[in-house]
Formats: sequence, structure tokens, C-alpha cells
Amino acid sequence: MAAPAPVKKVPIHLQSAQNRLYIKRGHVVNHDSMQQADVYIEDGVIKYVGSGADFVVPGGCRQIDATGKMIIPGGIDPHTHFQLEFGGAVSVDDFYRGTKAAVAGGTTTILDFVLPNKGQSLLEAYDEWRQRADPKVVCDYGLHVGITWWSKSVSDEMKILCEERGVNSFKVFMAYKGTYMLTDNELYEVFERCKELGAVAQVHAENGDLIAKNVQKLLASGVTGPEGHELSRTEEIEAEATNRACVIAHQAKCPLYVVHVMSKSAGIEVARARRRYNGVGIFGETLAAALGTDGRNYTHKCWHHAAAHVLSPPLRPDPETPEFLMKLLAQDDLQTTGSDNCTFNKEQKELGKNDFSKIPNGVNGVEDRMSVVWEKGVQTGLIDPQRFVAITSTNAAKIFNLYPRKGCIVAGSDADIVIWDPKATRTISAKTHHQAVDFNIFEGLTCHGVPEFVIVHGRVCLENETFRVAEGQGHFLETPTHPPYVYDSLNGFNNHTDENGARNGLRSLDLNQKSHDI
Ligand code: URP
Ligand code: ZN
Ligand code: ZN
Ligand code: ZN
Repeated sequence: MAAPAPVKKVPIHLQSAQNRLYIKRGHVVNHDSMQQADVYIEDGVIKYVGSGADFVVPGGCRQIDATGKMIIPGGIDPHTHFQLEFGGAVSVDDFYRGTKAAVAGGTTTILDFVLPNKGQSLLEAYDEWRQRADPKVVCDYGLHVGITWWSKSVSDEMKILCEERGVNSFKVFMAYKGTYMLTDNELYEVFERCKELGAVAQVHAENGDLIAKNVQKLLASGVTGPEGHELSRTEEIEAEATNRACVIAHQAKCPLYVVHVMSKSAGIEVARARRRYNGVGIFGETLAAALGTDGRNYTHKCWHHAAAHVLSPPLRPDPETPEFLMKLLAQDDLQTTGSDNCTFNKEQKELGKNDFSKIPNGVNGVEDRMSVVWEKGVQTGLIDPQRFVAITSTNAAKIFNLYPRKGCIVAGSDADIVIWDPKATRTISAKTHHQAVDFNIFEGLTCHGVPEFVIVHGRVCLENETFRVAEGQGHFLETPTHPPYVYDSLNGFNNHTDENGARNGLRSLDLNQKSHDI
């Protein structure tokens, strides 16, 4: 018999240092509490949160002093598109660079979108995304699936995705005529199916028919530059579709999550729908891009600068938009902040050099989202640190049924933790960011709020700007259907019959908006 292979001995103190971590004297901020506390982590899980008085720190355990810092749940970015083929180009941040940049900025979970081609099996597309992502991700990730065409087989596959593949959310498009756009009738059927399955329906709300008309008109009149992008899909194009989507979802008795709310007008439609339906059933997400910059960039004298800001729905030229959207987040008219990170380099954007409608859509944000939201929200006094945690992490965890495993710092949760220095500042630049893309839409913005340590599943991955990440160290997250936060209080939504609701809601919506905004 062959001699057994020699056992490789790992010194005890090294084992402990790897698996155990004690963070002391920080301010633990959850969405509903803030306390001075210590946090003990073992094997990737939070084991203890408390004063430390009654806790015996195991010997050999690494200790981090967080005095003067906040200990917050790692960010959850509910909206990314890594290595997505879109408009004839593949987005340059792949699942490695994208998740690495996420971690650099304090985000420890991302949710990406499987977008099947027209006619393609949803399961096949899902497998492709898993094959792309699993070997590369450095943080945990989940998948939404786009319903980009509609048939009985798509409906059947939605069930399989929910029951056997860990998917609990589906996005429909009212825009991108000829590729992803569905009709109102199809929207209704998808929403009905989502309701049956206990899944979260998501919508990209822009009127795709009107956009197609406007694009034709603008090009015919000689408007070919990036400014045409916003002109072809103005606020009312977004607001009309937002209201229509909310009505269709309500008719189908299905809760709805409106992704990337980019304008005051669309934000007001989400707020009105929430009031009309008694505060349940409708959820809204806005983007770091919408909070940190604006649509005046589309008329920038440099074509590349302007084109780098092209995403859909567009940024708005009204410079009051970012503050308005932050106020909607502050008063729970919107619930989450995503990045919609979908990055294309200069030469890829040039596909639309002579025709703005051919500029690949998308911007950066996965790395800077946390700092931008802190700067524009907490630093300005519009929100407090607890609301910051809610809109960058907890609410996404609740809506997509990852809570309390993700989105909070309590015993039993995954040790996805950021030690956040609220006083430190950093200035954003494409020269120093970790993303693959050659442009940063927040260039030159100085943000308070810097992640000092980022701990992913108990591993210290970022420590004073030094990375220790391994490709593929993240895991796929199965998201169960019927998230209680979305589905448990739907009575008022389903039984609602009060036609005055919209008017009543409007009266209590006080954001100092000018009348023409409504
Ligand atoms: O411009 C954008 N948003 N690109 C990504 C696709 C989408 O609609 O989310
Ligand atoms: Zn979209
Ligand atoms: Zn330039
Ligand atoms: Zn998107």
C-alpha cells in the first residue's frame, strides 16, 4: 500500500487570521439602527455584534480598530451589465474587472441581467451568463432575466428559472423597438406570470414607438450628434411609459420595480403610483449617474465626452434633477440606487459617430455608486447614514429576497462589510479607477465617504487601496421567489378601487416641484 500523502500543516495562527476577524469600536450602521459596537466574523459569517464587554476574542484572531469609522453592510448594486453585447459592441467591464471595481468602491454584491436574444431559450442564455460570470466574479452575484420576447415556451422557462435556477426577477422593456421591446399586451401577460410565480417584475419604462419616430425626425432634420439622444427620449417619453407600466402592473395585480428612474417627471409618476396604491406594490430605482451628473453633458463641445454620457433613459438637462431624485430616495418614493454599469470605450461609442441612435448605450458607476450617493445624499444633509445603508444595500436585499443574509450587519448574516471613513475624501478619475473603461462620467468629483476596508464573505479584499482578490472567489446567489418585502402587504394594491387616489397622492407629494414638472 502506498504511503499516505504528507499532510500540509498550516500554523494555527495563520488559520485563525484567515478565518476570524474582530472589528472593534466602530459605529455599526444598519438601515434601522446605529450603535457603537464590535463585530466578530468567523468563516465568512458574522457571529457577534455587540459592545464587546461579554465577548472573549479568540486568540490569534486578526483585530481591526474602527474608531471614528462606520461599519456598514457591503453595498448591493441591483443593476449591472458586465460583458454585455449591446448595439454591436461588448461592454468592456467583464465580470472580473466589474466586480473588482465594485469591491474597490464598497459594493460586495451585484445583480446582473441575462438578456436573451429574440427567439433564444431563456435557459440557454442563463447558462451562457453563468459560464461567463462564475469563473470571474470576485464578489457574490445574482441574476435577473430579461423577457425580450414572448411565447408559451418563455412562460414555461420562467417557471424553471424560478424553481430550479435561483432566479426571482424578470425585466421587460418598453423601449428598444425591434430588439427587446414588448407590447402592452405582452407586458400584461409577463406581469401575470410573474405574479403567479411570486417573482419581481422589473420594467425599463420609455415609449419605444415614440422614440423610433423622434429618431427618424431628428436624423432627417440633420441632428446626428449625441444631443439627439436626449431630444429623442425626453422626460415625458419616460414619464408616460412609467405611468403606463404601473397601471398595467396594477391591472395584472403584480408588484413592479421600475429600474433606472432618470427624470423628475418619471420619479413623480412612481411617487404618484405608490400613493395611489397605498404605498405598496410599486418600487423605484435610480442610478448613481442620475444623482452624480446631468444631461447638459450631451451638448459638450467634445463628441467623445458627450457620447460617453449616452445611456437610456438619458441623463436630463434640467440641473435640478439629481437633487430632486435624492429627495425622492430620502422620502421612500424611490427605494434603491443601482449603477446600470454598461461601459463602452471611445472607439466603441464611435459606432454612432454619424448617427446618435447607434451610440452603444451605457455608462460607468459600479465603483463610484457608494461614494456618489454619500456625497450627494449624506454630505448634503438630504439623508442620514441609515437611509444611505437602506438605499445602497438593505432595500435591494429585501426586494430581491437576499435579506437578512445580505444588506445588514447582524449575527448570522454573510460577512460582507465595509469600514467606511465618512471624513476621508477621494477625487474620482478614469486615471485611477479600477474599471476597464477609458472614461469616467464623475471625473473630478470629490466625494466624502471612502471605503477603508472592504470585507467580502469574511475575506479582507481591500485594505488601504491594496487588493487581495482572486478571480472566481465570489458565488452565485440563488434568489428565492415571494420576497416578503414585495409580496406580503399587497392587499391594498390588489383591492384598490379609489379612483381619487392619484389626486390625493399628488396633494401630499411635496418636493417643491414647479407645476410644469407634474
Ligand atoms: O443605457 C443603458 N441603460 N444600457 C443598458 C441596457 C438597459 O436598458 O439597462
Ligand atoms: Zn434598461
Ligand atoms: Zn474631450
Ligand atoms: Zn440596465
